[in-house]
Order: sequence, then structure tokens, then C-alpha cells
Amino acid sequence: MSISGPDNDTTKRIQLRAALIERIGGYMTAHALGVVADLGIADLIKDGVRSSDELAAETGAHEPSLRRVLRLLASVGVTTEPEPTRFGLTEVGALLRSDSPDSLRAFTRVFCSPMWFTAWQGLGQAVTTGELAFSQAKGSDFYTSLTADTEFSALFHEAMGEESRIAAARVAAAYDFSHAIKVVDLGGGDGTLLAAILTAHPHLSGTVFDSPSGVADAPAVLGKAGVADRCEVQPGDFFQDIPGDGDLYLIKSVFQDWNDEDALALLRSCRTRIPESATLLIVGTVLPEIPSADQSIAYFTDVNMMVMAGGRERTESEFRTMLSETGFTVQSVRFGAAGPLSMIQATPSAA
Ligand SMILES: C[S@@+](CC[C@H](N)C(=O)[O-])C[C@H]1O[C@@H](n2cnc3c(N)ncnc32)[C@H](O)[C@@H]1O
Repeated sequence: MSISGPDNDTTKRIQLRAALIERIGGYMTAHALGVVADLGIADLIKDGVRSSDELAAETGAHEPSLRRVLRLLASVGVTTEPEPTRFGLTEVGALLRSDSPDSLRAFTRVFCSPMWFTAWQGLGQAVTTGELAFSQAKGSDFYTSLTADTEFSALFHEAMGEESRIAAARVAAAYDFSHAIKVVDLGGGDGTLLAAILTAHPHLSGTVFDSPSGVADAPAVLGKAGVADRCEVQPGDFFQDIPGDGDLYLIKSVFQDWNDEDALALLRSCRTRIPESATLLIVGTVLPEIPSADQSIAYFTDVNMMVMAGGRERTESEFRTMLSETGFTVQSVRFGAAGPLSMIQATPSAA
């Protein structure tokens, strides 16, 4: 008796079900990535292939469990297992190495941390009620909570620096800095963006402006880049006051943290303080006006902002409305110019 295989219809149904189950498995992969990044496994297998016995011994892990997690990550293209129980890294997995110039290890540890997972557990309630999931889970807003946790704060700002590296090089190359003298980076975190710009443009000086915990690592980052003598580090609250002596104000990956009311307050703070002749350069995600299925990272971050901070990503027309309401005129919008981020250049409108 011959046993026939599935017909075309059944094959399609199996594939569709697998496609959905793979997406459900995304959170399991995220947990696995977080564990492997926390343990520093990629740093231990950077030169070829290591056995799970060695990796477990060097990280104090339980070998059978670690092996199964590494096998899960092999199934999604992060690790390799060229022979049983010996693991290597794919090009994607190599981004988990601390010493990779494109490292996303701290970024992985933050986005796959218990703090993130706890807040995301409130997604259902957030969708039902519109409440801020992070505050419901933690009892305070994200940045207040960050200030209270020095270790996680350092990791978060390191993660933001990692996220900024390619965009920083792109901004440094794509924007015409020849007319600028002093660049102020508002919410500039650990100074990664300004370090890249000052390195590429030796005529510039700058200020990294962020909360006290936000700028904690900026002196080291600017020092390592060799630009500390041209760059001040100024702690402060950009809703209260911002430096008034710049002629180019950068604000990268900041607006999405805030709801419309706060984002408008921040723009008003900028309008009040920056010179009439200055330029505001917003670097960040600009959503397409018509939702587009190939922008998954932008929609991940949009919902992430809803969960973690009550903020949101915005379209070009939403940015234009906010800027015009607060006394700015948009000069240009360059999609993807700070790949994958966009750049919006605005100037104070004539009174
Ligand atoms: C998402 S991070 C982006 C950091 C950096 N611009 C980048 O792109 O890597 C947002 C930054 O805004 C800073 N921030 C939040 N609230 C602030 C405030 N009230 N005053 C100044 N900076 C603030 C945070 O500390 C953080 O560094």
C-alpha cells in the first residue's frame, strides 16, 4: 500500500500555519537572544566554533539548557551548528559580539530585558484602555525609572549609542555642515552622534545635552573619538531650558518618546531658546503616509513607544503640522538620508 503525500491544498495550509507559528515564536527568539547576549556567548565564540560544554563552563550555565537555546538560535539564523553540540555565529549573530563595530549586544540586552518584557505584558490592557503599559507595570514613567537604576541606565544609553552608529556616520556625510559653527545635540545621550559629526567636520564645536544620567558616558565617548576638546557635555532638562548658543540643533530619535502634548512642549522649548538664525535638524523615523508592509521596524518602534513611553512614530504631515504649530518652517524632508532614518530640516518661522 502506498502512502500519498499531502495534496497542494494541505501543503498550503501547513505553510500558512507554520508562518503564523513562526511569528508567535518571535518572542521566544527574543528571550533566547536576551539570555545569550547577557551571557556574552558571542564574545566567546568569535573565533570559529565552540562546544556547548566549553561555553557552559565559561559562563556558569547549565549545558543541556544552553545547548537547546543555541540550537533554537541556529534555527533562526543567529548561530550555526556545523557539527553536533559545536556552535558558531552567522553574520547576524556576530552583531552580538561586544567588539563588533556594528555591535547590537547592549541593544539586544535592553530590548530583550525583563524590564521590556514586563512592560509588554501590559499590551492587552494598553490596547483596551489606552493606558501606558510601562507606568502601569512599574509605577513611574520610563525615564524616571531609568534614573533610579544606574546600571540599566548605562546599558540603555550604550544601546542607544549602538543604534546610532550607522545613522551618525550617515548624518555626518549627508548633511552640509559647512555653514554651521556650533552643533547642539538635544537628547544626545552618550555623544555617539556628535562624536561622528565632529570627527568628520573639524571646523565644528558642539554640545551634548541630555539628562544627567543620559550624558554620564558622553565624556568617555567623546574622549575616545578625540573630539572632547571641541565638545561640551551639558546635563539638563530639555523641557525646561536648552543651550542658546548653537547654530545647528540636532534632535535624533527623541520625538517618538513623547505623546503629542509633550512633543509640542519640546518644540516650543526649542523655539523659545534657539537663535532666530539657527537650524533644527530632526533625525528619526518618518512613517509613510500610507502604511507600508515593508516598514516592520518602524511599526515595531511605534508600538514599543506606545508601551514604554506613551510616545509614537509620526508621518511627514504630522511632523509638518507640529513644526508649523510651534513656529518652525520645514525646509526639507529627506527620507532614509540617515539610513534607515530620515532627516527633517526646519528653521524658525519669521515672527
Ligand atoms: C531614545 S534616546 C535617543 C538618544 C540619542 N539621541 C540617540 O539617538 O542615540 C532619547 C534621549 O532623550 C533623553 N531625554 C529624555 N528626557 C529628557 C529631558 N527631559 N531632557 C533631556 N534629555 C532627555 C534621554 O536621556 C535619551 O538619551
